[in-house]
Amino acid sequence: MSTHSLEIRPDGIAVVTLDVPGEAVNVLGRAVREDFAALFELLTNDESVRGVVLRSGKPDSWIAGADVGELATIRTSTDAERLSRDGQLLLDRLESLRMPVVAAIHGACLGGGLETALACGYRIITDHPRTILGFPEVKLGLIPGAGGTQRLPQLVGLRASLDMILTGKNVYPRKALAIGLVDELVHPAILLDIAVTRALELADEKRGTSSTRRRGLVDFALDDNPIGRGVVLKKAREQTLARTRGHYPAPLAALDVIAAGYDQGDEHGFREEARRFGELVVSPVARELTFLFFASNELKKDPGVDGDAPEPLPVDKLAVLGAGFMGAGIAAVAALQGTLVRLKDTDAAQVGRGLAAARDVFAERLEKRRITKHEFDDLRSLVGGTMDYSGFANADLCIEAVFEDVAVKQQVLREAESKLPADAIYASNTSTIPIGELATASQRPEQVLGMHFFSPVPRMPLLEVIVTPRTGVAATVTAVAYGKKLGKTVIVVNDGPGFYTTRTLAVYMNEAGFLLDDGADIVALDAAMVDFGFPSGPIKLLDDVGLDVAGKVAAVLGEAFGERMPRSRSLEKVLAAGRTGRKGKSGFYRYDARARKGEVDPSVYELLPTGAQRATYPVEEMQRRLVLALVNEAVRCLEEGILRSPRDGDVGAVFGIGFPPFRGGPFRYIDAVGAAEVVRRLEELDARFPRRFSPAPLLERMAHSGARFHPDLTRGSEPSFRTRQGG
Ligand code: NAI
Repeated sequence: MSTHSLEIRPDGIAVVTLDVPGEAVNVLGRAVREDFAALFELLTNDESVRGVVLRSGKPDSWIAGADVGELATIRTSTDAERLSRDGQLLLDRLESLRMPVVAAIHGACLGGGLETALACGYRIITDHPRTILGFPEVKLGLIPGAGGTQRLPQLVGLRASLDMILTGKNVYPRKALAIGLVDELVHPAILLDIAVTRALELADEKRGTSSTRRRGLVDFALDDNPIGRGVVLKKAREQTLARTRGHYPAPLAALDVIAAGYDQGDEHGFREEARRFGELVVSPVARELTFLFFASNELKKDPGVDGDAPEPLPVDKLAVLGAGFMGAGIAAVAALQGTLVRLKDTDAAQVGRGLAAARDVFAERLEKRRITKHEFDDLRSLVGGTMDYSGFANADLCIEAVFEDVAVKQQVLREAESKLPADAIYASNTSTIPIGELATASQRPEQVLGMHFFSPVPRMPLLEVIVTPRTGVAATVTAVAYGKKLGKTVIVVNDGPGFYTTRTLAVYMNEAGFLLDDGADIVALDAAMVDFGFPSGPIKLLDDVGLDVAGKVAAVLGEAFGERMPRSRSLEKVLAAGRTGRKGKSGFYRYDARARKGEVDPSVYELLPTGAQRATYPVEEMQRRLVLALVNEAVRCLEEGILRSPRDGDVGAVFGIGFPPFRGGPFRYIDAVGAAEVVRRLEELDARFPRRFSPAPLLERMAHSGARFHPDLTRGSEPSFRTRQGG
């Protein structure tokens, strides 16, 4: 079956409709490439064809990019380089067809899709929220490999190209027009008609092909002359290195390749692009990022339960308890998906603050032109506030986000249950308290589970759904499906103190506390972990999360895990001194008006058990202590059945608690280092710090058998871990 259909109209315009069979979106796999090659041949030879319109038969995607699955099977850089060269040659043929080609774009036009569009002579896109353009390759540890690094700068200039290629960000229609990435913006209903008209005008030479970007003085100074470009490239390199700490080779390679094209011409630029693309495809960073891409795609299809899954129940009306920071965020993301929300708190002022916080989320979208004023007004009217339980009688789902306190949460659950419909699902957003404990207050525990969102809710991609042995399958699949609708990547975990994410993060933070007890320097410790690849240092994170919150988490987990999770004296003392962190403008760092960025509050050292005198710890020692504590705990979560799979543990840690994406997650990290080596390092630490580093039994077994958590794709091996001995 062909991947496209071809209609040659009486006026000589060939309309090519790309529609890869059996796929939700068009991806540029082998079949499309072969069909394209045959198509270009046919178009060249058919005298009656005067122009071409290239469009998509998929509802909301034009071409979503290369076939990542195909890339993942490549074993050598030579093969990857060849794939890139072949792609470049194919698009060269498209670009040099004897007739004009108009790209009629509606929906996602990404990566190889955008490269295809760039090889067309004219680009029209629809003015629609689903239409996005971009080069997301860096997010997979790659660079565009079919001419994108060379054609884009020629079209939009150097700075706009770097902004796209180095970040992988999406460009929305109006911006795309403004930077000259596309020639025209139209309503979806007239896309094809306008495209055909333009193709005819181009064929009749009544209109020129693009590259008519208006250039101003700044363009001339910075993009169009070598000295300006040198400055821009140098600055971009510095910024990239600062942002990535050198952990991500792709943006640096993109800079080199773009520069090579400017300095030594297209021909050389294309060759360099293919060579560097080839190297990157087989690099460890790309492997890990590709793993995460597949893992989150798999999770999109995972209903959240093993075996047969019932259809999720519809969630059209949502009740949210607690209009605080989290409640307001949850209300906002729900409204963005069209859910009618009722937000409850105990007093009017608090409800008002919650509604204002939700409105701020919508306002940000409006500002970025992601929504219209009309949509903004609609969104606001979707979220209503209440101090009693009015509106709860119609809710399909209730998410509770009140204070982190068992008694309060149980009380609120009892009250809410008496107001909600008998079949409504009840979810708590608690970050630590076992759901089973809250559910003891429930009349219908089969409808109770956890929906643990991360802060800030609109931006954080993960949702951890927590199920107890009594949670029903219907409730689970509904919470999972609704979480996905909210745009979240959802993992389902079994109940336990701190579930998965809070528990692993807590041991990591705790270990940071012990390092402070031992005399480590705050700035050095934070810098060590940022160097390892975390987005923020642990002490800074403590301040951001709130020391009171961290204290509560530590108390719950300390009680649950006893001696294995003792509490650090430093955290206790700083908390006892009344410091709460950023929100109270008093924590480990300074938050007063005169503070420099990242300046430690020197007076905090007086509170620490070892005082102001700080010791110097090797960076690697600090990293090892924190990271090994975390990954060892992750293995325990797998072994105890908290986690359903290593995949969920990796995705949960990267998307939820900031584990470095280029390391793939705790289980991928262990696989990379080797279970035996991880155990050896843990034992070394365990000898110095009894109990905190005892290797998880599963890890010891794996060290012994040489097993891995994930298959080694470079060798084609299978994973062979067992969550339980003999299981
Ligand atoms: P918050 O203090 O900002 O909000 C709590 C809200 O609940 C307040 O507005 C309070 O007035 C309201 N409330 C208290 N009792 C109530 C009652 N009986 N009925 C209705 N409303 C009531 O707290 P935040 O940060 O939003 O946390 C809420 C929950 O979310 C906690 O369980 C917390 O552990 C969890 N969580 C917090 C995260 C964070 O980063 N802040 C991350 C993930 C979970």
